[in-house]
Amino acid sequence: MLEQRSLIGPKDFTLEELDELFKLTEQIEHDKDFLRESCRGKLLATLFFEPSTRTRLSFEAAMLRLGGSCLGFAEPASSSAAKGESLADTIRVVSAYADLIVMRNPKEGAALLAKRYSQVPVINAGDGGHHHPTQTLTDLVTIKQLVGRFNGIKVGFCGDLKFGRTVHSLTEALARYPDVELFFISPDELGVPSYITNELKVSNIQYTETDRLEKVIGELDVLYMTRVQRERFLNEGEYLRLKDSYILTAEKMKGAKERMIILHPLPRVNEIDIELDADPRAAYFKQAEYGMYVRMALIACTLGAFKPSVL
Ligand code: NCD
Repeated sequence: MLEQRSLIGPKDFTLEELDELFKLTEQIEHDKDFLRESCRGKLLATLFFEPSTRTRLSFEAAMLRLGGSCLGFAEPASSSAAKGESLADTIRVVSAYADLIVMRNPKEGAALLAKRYSQVPVINAGDGGHHHPTQTLTDLVTIKQLVGRFNGIKVGFCGDLKFGRTVHSLTEALARYPDVELFFISPDELGVPSYITNELKVSNIQYTETDRLEKVIGELDVLYMTRVQRERFLNEGEYLRLKDSYILTAEKMKGAKERMIILHPLPRVNEIDIELDADPRAAYFKQAEYGMYVRMALIACTLGAFKPSVL
């Protein structure tokens, strides 16, 4: 039962629950009016303490398409956080106004804290460089629809794997499926954190760390490109030195499988050459579209507007 449940980390839902959620997402993709009006009278609060385009707008579009309404803020400067209000106080108050809270915050652990003080479910839309579980739902749905399976797939993550929260969440989520193999492609300074690799070792997931994309691209079913996360660097010089570490071009794609898909949580800066947008393997805009469908499914299940058998 996802009803009235918060979503803070990538493993909060069981694999069976994810499966049901993805089935519902597919149903919504094929019939966008399937759950129309199912959330009429419900309120979604979107509290964004950090910039966002897709995550906030796809949540709001999802709620509006379900017949519900949205309120909130897109930047902390327009909220009482600017006056020094604590997150706990903000959440106590907003959770009395809304039926569901979606929050993005620059501090790792903020979503977990919000859940503690909220009377309504909280969905983590990104907590600093930690996790981003609804991007993971988006990524998994895209892989399921375009690759057709999770078991045994080979996924490469390329770019800023240290600060990229979408990488952390998707890695943990994929590690729950059998025979998945992971490739981490980054400069040494931006490698995946050791708490993640330690978990992979414990789960017996095979992984490779390298700084050479060309070396492994031919093995992959999915290549997950990421932006170097400028806002998390303590030193601008270090960012400037590393920002162009990987730029995916048509030339580099010659080494990839014909059916490999390219994912990217977006926004893209320059890590995927725009000439690749026309390549049938470029799936990042489709991925952003799935983001809205899966968030519709998530909201409907969380608010009890849809009750699949397992959920
Ligand atoms: C990502 C994020 O906010 O972590 N964006 C998103 O939600 N799609 C990726 C990023 O900002 O690089």
